[in-house]
Amino acid sequence: MSIGHPELVASIAAEIAVSGPIPFARFMELALYHPQFGYYMRAPEYMVERIGWRGDFYTSSDVHPILGQALAKQAEQIDRLLGQPDPFIVVETGPGKGLLAKHFLSACQRHFRSLFERLQYALVERSPAMQALQRKNMAPWLDRPSCITWLNDVAKLAQEGVNGLILSNELIDSFPVHRIQVTANGTEELWVDYQSGRFVESLRPLSSEALSNYVRRIGADWPEGYRTEINVHALSWMQQVAQLINRGIVLTIDYGHTAQDLYRPDRKAGTFLCYSRQSVNEEPFLRVGDQDMTAHVDFTSLANTGEEYGLRTTGFTNQLSFLMGLGVERMIEALEPDSPTFKAAIHLLRPNGMGTTFKVLVQHKGMVSPELDGLKYKPFFDSALTTQSAA
Ligand SMILES: C[S@@+](CC[C@H](N)C(=O)[O-])C[C@H]1O[C@@H](n2cnc3c(N)ncnc32)[C@H](O)[C@@H]1O
Repeated sequence: MSIGHPELVASIAAEIAVSGPIPFARFMELALYHPQFGYYMRAPEYMVERIGWRGDFYTSSDVHPILGQALAKQAEQIDRLLGQPDPFIVVETGPGKGLLAKHFLSACQRHFRSLFERLQYALVERSPAMQALQRKNMAPWLDRPSCITWLNDVAKLAQEGVNGLILSNELIDSFPVHRIQVTANGTEELWVDYQSGRFVESLRPLSSEALSNYVRRIGADWPEGYRTEINVHALSWMQQVAQLINRGIVLTIDYGHTAQDLYRPDRKAGTFLCYSRQSVNEEPFLRVGDQDMTAHVDFTSLANTGEEYGLRTTGFTNQLSFLMGLGVERMIEALEPDSPTFKAAIHLLRPNGMGTTFKVLVQHKGMVSPELDGLKYKPFFDSALTTQSAA
């Protein structure tokens, strides 16, 4: 079995040779986002094969346009609640191949003309390869330069502030995570070393104050041997987003749980997984740079960080309920029963699959308790998010 992309392995090994062992989060950052050899930074031709039905993993937008269409419908309601600002800005961070944006823009152009005329869609993407794929999917709108823009970083929008919608789907789970384990010495962190041509892990003290603070805030009483992941980067992203938005909604879709559920004592091995060629493994030290790595999102900490920086939690639900609230039954009724597109749309709603593993966190700022159609059927309520302790 390959240890991974040879130049990437050499580059990580060289960093370890200089600095000594590195926290797992640094290893994951390099494996996914090394500027030349990281998984998401490879050539567009490589990435187009890796993400999709036949790739390492697929997202809702690879399955069916219905999520992008429902989000356009949700945006139209937000636009009306905001008094139809000009421009109405949508910021999508981590757009992947750009399919969600394509489905959103097509639906807006077709059904919500007034919004479409005032729409500015900003794609925030750190990978030049992914940006190139997005450009292909944005081709129908590239003749309207004021409509589509690309940014490497949301900070570029900070000066004017955003009136509109800040959106992401499967962004947070692609941020590098710290991995921790409870030992006889307390809570320790997994660090990565390189020995005899292999990456190996060792347990050492926590690498940063931000990480210790996060663990302390969770306040869980875990048994010895318990292993889990901490996404410190998710909280700094949320802080940045909360400060960026002027009036509007932050809508975050990802697979994840409340802290109470994610960090419950019986979830002993955490949720960290690697994806390669339509299969799942727990071997981050193999296929380095040739496979995706993810961990489920702690939505409680995201919501609490938003509250700390001026956002209000509007609601928390799952993809099935979100889509139902936006009238997905009517969209599905229009499809030929049992056709491949019908089956694909149903796949996004499966109660034991994408319909419930994917959650939707909605937050607002500069609006008074907005009542959104996507939150009409909430299986989870704000109180579920505010319970910090997993004990
Ligand atoms: C799993 S893919 C997202 C899939 C996509 N949203 C969809 O619905 O199909 C994660 C994407 O986020 C991008 N990304 C990761 N961290 C980022 C960051 N800090 N800023 C912008 N883009 C980021 C990756 O390069 C990749 O394109």
